[in-house]
Amino acid sequence: MKIGIIGTGNIGGALTRRFRALGHEVAVANSRGPASLADLAAETGARAVTVAEAAHGNDVVIVTIPEKNVASLPSDLFADVPAGVVVIDTGNYYPQQRDGRIDAIESGTTESRWVADRLGRTVVKTFNNIMAQHLLEKGVPPGTAGRIALPVAGDDAAAKATVMQLVDDLGFDPVDAGTLDESWRQQPGTPVYGKDYDAAGVRKALAEASEERTPEWRAV
Ligand SMILES: NC(=O)c1ccc[n+]([C@@H]2O[C@H](COP(=O)([O-])OP(=O)(O)OC[C@H]3O[C@@H](n4cnc5c(N)ncnc54)[C@H](OP(=O)(O)O)[C@@H]3O)[C@@H](O)[C@H]2O)c1
Repeated sequence: MKIGIIGTGNIGGALTRRFRALGHEVAVANSRGPASLADLAAETGARAVTVAEAAHGNDVVIVTIPEKNVASLPSDLFADVPAGVVVIDTGNYYPQQRDGRIDAIESGTTESRWVADRLGRTVVKTFNNIMAQHLLEKGVPPGTAGRIALPVAGDDAAAKATVMQLVDDLGFDPVDAGTLDESWRQQPGTPVYGKDYDAAGVRKALAEASEERTPEWRAV
């Protein structure tokens, strides 16, 4: 599969390494340009490209940058990207620590719905509730006892099925977490966030989530 990754920090770097190890073609981009990605490209065999190039010509595009920075991506980035291309959002809204206030999210729009609105196309939300180091190191074959499960939310059934397969390939049990408007169940502060539960644990945690943002995860 051809995978474009926009953002090559903790999560983007982990996904680049793991997807390359699985044999996928990976194109990586950050805000500083391809020259700054020479080391990651040399290490992994990924292609270092511009943000526009990462968004184009791939089967799957992963947006994995700080939430507030999604607003600074070109507004037409995906305008001519075919509808069948799957876009994954790994983002989390950290109002106090990093992102500042985003009014729509504070008013109840889910974080990934807000991202989808900025990008002008739907996204599939996953990889947001696992620490980057665990994403890099803790994948195991299907059927392994205690295999970590990851919630996957999205409105497009075909796109979600593609992403669930990729999650499985990376060594994690995918759990269907519903639609983007239900994806508050896996946002920061919820029971599933950062916990490394297995599939039964993820289902239970999603069911027990509360839609109200906890004070730690609201703008002050
Ligand atoms: N860290 C975790 O364990 C973790 C876990 C789950 C989810 N997340 C979420 O996933 C997202 C990424 O987190 P992270 O920890 O990987 O971030 P990070 O380590 O801070 O890396 C951010 C990356 O985004 C790039 N970037 C920023 N603005 C950009 C822009 N406008 N265009 C292109 N690239 C841009 C940066 O490029 P430059 O360096 O060139 O600026 C950098 O490569 C965040 O929303 C985070 O909350 C993080």
